[in-house]
Amino acid sequence: MRSAGYHRLCSTLVLSSAFLFVTPSEEDISSASSLFGNILEPIWGFKTAHAKFSLRRPLDPTDDICYIVTGSLESLIKCNFNATSKTFLVIHGWTVTGMFESWVGKLVAALYKREPSANVIVVDWLSTAHNHYTVAAQNTKRVGENVAHFITWMKEATGLSLESLHLIGYSLGAHVAGFAGSHVSNKIGRITGLDPAGPDFEGENAHRRLSPDDAHFVDVLHTFSRGSLGLSIGIQQPVGHVDIYPNGGRFQPGCNLRGALEKIAKFGIFAVSDAIKCEHERSVHLFIDSLVNEREASKAYSCGSSEMFDRGVCLSCHNNRCNTVGYGITKTRKARSAKMFTKTRASMPFRVYHYQLKIRFSSTVNHSELEPTLTVSLYGTSGDTEHLQLNVKEKISTNRTHSFLLVTEKDIGEVLMMKFKWEDSNGWSSFSLRKSLSAWWSGNSAASADIQVHKIWVKVGETQKKIVFCLKNPSIANLAQEIVFVKCKDDWRNPSKRYGPKIQ
Ligand SMILES: *[C@@H]1O[C@H](CO)[C@@H](O)[C@H](O)[C@H]1NC(C)=O
Ligand SMILES: *[C@@H]1O[C@H](CO)[C@@H](O)[C@H](O)[C@H]1NC(C)=O
Ligand SMILES: *[C@@H]1O[C@H](CO)[C@@H](O)[C@H](O)[C@H]1NC(C)=O
Repeated sequence: MRSAGYHRLCSTLVLSSAFLFVTPSEEDISSASSLFGNILEPIWGFKTAHAKFSLRRPLDPTDDICYIVTGSLESLIKCNFNATSKTFLVIHGWTVTGMFESWVGKLVAALYKREPSANVIVVDWLSTAHNHYTVAAQNTKRVGENVAHFITWMKEATGLSLESLHLIGYSLGAHVAGFAGSHVSNKIGRITGLDPAGPDFEGENAHRRLSPDDAHFVDVLHTFSRGSLGLSIGIQQPVGHVDIYPNGGRFQPGCNLRGALEKIAKFGIFAVSDAIKCEHERSVHLFIDSLVNEREASKAYSCGSSEMFDRGVCLSCHNNRCNTVGYGITKTRKARSAKMFTKTRASMPFRVYHYQLKIRFSSTVNHSELEPTLTVSLYGTSGDTEHLQLNVKEKISTNRTHSFLLVTEKDIGEVLMMKFKWEDSNGWSSFSLRKSLSAWWSGNSAASADIQVHKIWVKVGETQKKIVFCLKNPSIANLAQEIVFVKCKDDWRNPSKRYGPKIQ
């Protein structure tokens, strides 16, 4: 039934959508989306959705040794199911190979490491998931009903509490978890959606996808929600009580989609699925990280948009505005789902430290279109991190306060000193040429010569500390050279009126 042609079709689907994300010209999108549409037409009939439930063991996290069969008390006893412990159901997504991917065993092992007495059950719906994407997607409801039936029987047979149930679904598996939750008569405790699948679910009614109604608490990690006409592999819209978008839910560090596309030219089309898998599957590894590196949990912050987050203006923890990424998340339920953001490293442990820097560039000359390169070094009580380039998201104007997000990969403790460097961009546009000439005529060789920085306001996301830095040597405020700032006594909330930034 599954021919080689079918496999090629699936790879083409993944491939065409990958190209879509990196070449978003109108023409590409329309041709690719019609291709996408054709490929998504269901051409194989439904097979009966069928799920198996394997209770894995801590010592054999990758092996299926004991299946619990709905209706069979014998199987419960044989598998040593412990009804007083927490129970996790791990639900995989669409599969091209028809086999478990390696993350399944890693997630099982991580769950047992964190909760040694738990029951970790892997839901095996491979035979249905190993199908045309649309067929697999349409079957998530039936598989979900299957899982709900299993949960309902388990509850009756063992008396387990639904509150102690935690469903963890990846990709299409997240929607399976949602359907399972909505078909159990009372609410289950928690569903974690790991980059829930986008195609066929984006924009759908809440009862046709994972939604906050499906459990007491639904938390979601979005790692591959790159925006191109809704044809993203991961769903872009928030679908839980808390939706976290690491790195904006887009380019995950270390995945290098562009590099992978270059690789295809050399090694053929199968290279690209690695990059997609890397970004999509990053959600699973962030969750595993949160289980095994409890003390290094990442923090995420509520923010209106990824762009605002990248300007550093969203590092507040007031009123549950920040939360822990992954397993240790604090359950909060608001009327509207909270979109949260965080940055990560390229590998485990993924946690970084977030800093907001507020800087006022003062000058006697009006500048409004400056695009300098800004470099910062931080020196703290437990380490240093030097020459970090600030991500300048907007053009710099003088006598205005600008806000920047800075992240460090290591914990440097409390910041004691910082160095700041301004370099005029080398952009040789007619505009910058004109600027340099006028600066030259007015006796300055570069814009930096007449721009000064007197203070830098720093807010640390992870500790919520606010520190003001003042010039170490007040006579050197000129940005033509690297200047040194040290902690000063000024109150962050009441900066002096003269240089004061607006507090956000
Ligand atoms: C079941 O789990 C609980 C902890 O959740 C533990 O105290 C108890 O000993 C376990 N029972 C068996 C039979 O392992
Ligand atoms: C910017 O502010 C400083 C001090 O507040 C003032 O001396 C300077 O004239 C201002 N520059 C412009 C261009 O208005
Ligand atoms: C700088 O620009 C502001 C507003 O754009 C203006 O009010 C001010 O007079 C200008 N200052 C100088 C020195 O040109």
